[in-house]
Amino acid sequence: MKILVVGSGGREHAIVWKIAQSPKVDKIYCAPGNGGIGECAECVDIGAMEFERLAAFAKEKEIDLTVIGMDDPLCGGIVDVFEREGLRVFGPRKNAAILEGSKAFSKDLMKKYGIPTAAYEVFTDPEQAMAYLETAKFPIVLKADGLALGKGVLICGSLEEAKAGVKTLMLDKQFGSAGDEIVIEEFMTGREVSVLSFVDGQTIRIMTSAQDHKRAKDGDQGLNTGGMGTFSPSPFYTAEVDAYCREHIYQKTVDAMRAEGREFKGIIFFGLMLTADGPKVLEYNARFGDPETQVVLPRMKNDIVEVFEACVDGTLDQVELEFEDNAAVCVVLASDGYPEKYEKGLPISGLERFAGKTDYFVFHAGTKRDGDGRILTNGGRVLGVTATGADLKEARKKAYEATEWVEFANKYMRHDIGKAIDEA
Ligand code: AMP
Ligand code: GLY
Repeated sequence: MKILVVGSGGREHAIVWKIAQSPKVDKIYCAPGNGGIGECAECVDIGAMEFERLAAFAKEKEIDLTVIGMDDPLCGGIVDVFEREGLRVFGPRKNAAILEGSKAFSKDLMKKYGIPTAAYEVFTDPEQAMAYLETAKFPIVLKADGLALGKGVLICGSLEEAKAGVKTLMLDKQFGSAGDEIVIEEFMTGREVSVLSFVDGQTIRIMTSAQDHKRAKDGDQGLNTGGMGTFSPSPFYTAEVDAYCREHIYQKTVDAMRAEGREFKGIIFFGLMLTADGPKVLEYNARFGDPETQVVLPRMKNDIVEVFEACVDGTLDQVELEFEDNAAVCVVLASDGYPEKYEKGLPISGLERFAGKTDYFVFHAGTKRDGDGRILTNGGRVLGVTATGADLKEARKKAYEATEWVEFANKYMRHDIGKAIDEA
């Protein structure tokens, strides 16, 4: 088979790496890809939002299956364009990707179908939002409705802060039209867990649990980022939590989407909070998590291409997912200054130390290859260093050890990825 993956981050590197293990695959392309992806796929210089060019490329190269990694093209309708052209593609159509693309949609869906989530109200009028806040309890959470690179969520400790937040989102439009509509929701406390799943429209298969670290600095300080590190499985995702989520959240979400005429095929990523009142949905994503994928896929035993095909064909009920009985930890190596200002174009050394290892991985996020074949930094999150081990502690020790193998100027990482492991 020939496969095309659309995206350019650490997540796509992990997806491409996993696809490359499949005996069914002869050739992998990735558009646009990055410096590391180029080692296991042919990178193609077409942007992820250039749907027509991507579809034309897929036709020309006779691609058997295209896998979409990123949220923007999914929410923009790339799957609809590919299907219209008669191409096989893995991911939700635009009318289903809205599960991630609109927080107001997903909150209303959960309310309508009784899926546990924080209490909330939706506002399109800033005056009404301000008036609502006058009687609200604090802290409170404000969310821009649309995609905002994970940054459109404000946790406000006081009325003053919340009013300033409404101004930022709705009047100053810091996240553009994503803030035309906002969700104001109850602040919840508890441990966060990410759960990834495959869905074929009807059947859902849960992968395994993971935990992300969204803040830039140690001790969960600093700005929100795309994710500074992950571990899998989460020791807090117990059999009891799993049973509860299977009964009240996972299948119910898939059935709700079908009932709404928005059949969901692809990945549903459940962002959960384990509250004192039971697990609740913080958010849905319509794609693999980044960097959750970098700890989940190295533990997966299945041929991922078979699972992708089962989702597209609607035969996922015939597939059982299998994971290694081990653990994985990923530490993101970023450029100092991320997520704000940082330098690019700095040479990276030491990557060859990962070659041929089966328990250490380096997934490239923001890298590129220059004319001399050198790998340079090319983004805020540069690399994801993953290690697997018999348990979480061993995996963490190995992952941090491997972060020392790689060097580049302004290398920055959190030193407390997986700290929660000690509290389990
Ligand atoms: P989201 O993009 O909806 O996942 O929100 C980003 C982050 O904001 C989450 O990972 C949580 O840490 C935090 N968050 C979102 N909603 C809430 C909430 N209702 N209560 C507490 N924290 C929240
Ligand atoms: N790591 C969180 C996300 O992919 O949205």
